[in-house]
Amino acid sequence: MTVGRGIGYGDLIDLLAKELQSFPQAKWVVEKVSGLDNTSIGLLLKDQVPLYLIDEAKELVRRVKEGEPIQYVLESWDFRYLRLAINRSVLIPRPETEVVAGFVIDEIRQRCENLEDAVSKDVGIDRRYLRVVDLGTGSGAIALSIAKEIDIRFDIEVVATDLSQEALEVAKTNLETLDFPQQKRVQFMQGFWFNPLDDYISAVDIIVSNPPYVSQSQYDELDKCVKDFEPKVALFASDEGMSDLIYIASNAAKYLKDDGMLVLECAPEQIEPLVNFLEQANYSDVESHLDLSLRPRFVSGRIRAAS
Ligand SMILES: C[S@@+](CC[C@H](N)C(=O)[O-])C[C@H]1O[C@@H](n2cnc3c(N)ncnc32)[C@H](O)[C@@H]1O
Repeated sequence: MTVGRGIGYGDLIDLLAKELQSFPQAKWVVEKVSGLDNTSIGLLLKDQVPLYLIDEAKELVRRVKEGEPIQYVLESWDFRYLRLAINRSVLIPRPETEVVAGFVIDEIRQRCENLEDAVSKDVGIDRRYLRVVDLGTGSGAIALSIAKEIDIRFDIEVVATDLSQEALEVAKTNLETLDFPQQKRVQFMQGFWFNPLDDYISAVDIIVSNPPYVSQSQYDELDKCVKDFEPKVALFASDEGMSDLIYIASNAAKYLKDDGMLVLECAPEQIEPLVNFLEQANYSDVESHLDLSLRPRFVSGRIRAAS
């Protein structure tokens, strides 16, 4: 790439866009190296870019052209209302998971309003708080969206777990971008699925997870940019990609309160076996839900109250 001296921000974006064959990516690269936001760059299009910034931008473009996902190159990605810091120890948050988080947020709102209603009518309910667990939180995408988006007047606790300590470090960094009262809602725990949750037996209102669910044959077929850069522990699961889904579905009931809900993201072809499994286990109202591309993408079920 040849970029001349004395070049303005607008020209730099145009040149990088040709290299990357993507105008948005070129703009993000210039935002990243300059520390300027979209609006500020718009006001500075004709201003000269310092030479060292041009060199930094060229280096980022080189990495993208060599196949590194733009999200890791930028070290951040947007998820719902959050700009999440990311690195190679966490999965790049996906748009389908935004829908899963949105569903859970709606469910929490509904439950909080019902609780508030019951408390105001004084029907013997003496608690207002609700506890949610996000298993395998990665960058914290789901857990932190919940903490951010649920009205602060509702008393909620969000427990975010992961096997990977490195992933939890990323999630903790992202927690710091929330307002202080939202931050106080979240706690992190490290360990294998339910292992850190000994103190939460029959104590959780909603368990949500986007666990690894890619089978070995699908993993082998994944784009090189996924296989070479994203952590395998975040993607791959044995038994046709079902092992973690079934493990979570089998063990969640112990931690859920009566009427507690389990929400699991999975691949479209895993919906049917997962729905069947939940219906035969202790769940009622088992439903599948679509993602933004209208593919079935996650399931929800309520724990059946003991009769
Ligand atoms: C598909 S990623 C989801 C990350 C994040 N929740 C999201 O939706 O972007 C799965 C996450 O589960 C974690 N994980 C994998 N196996 C685990 C286990 N046995 N126990 C706890 N977490 C696990 C991975 O480290 C990874 O962060």
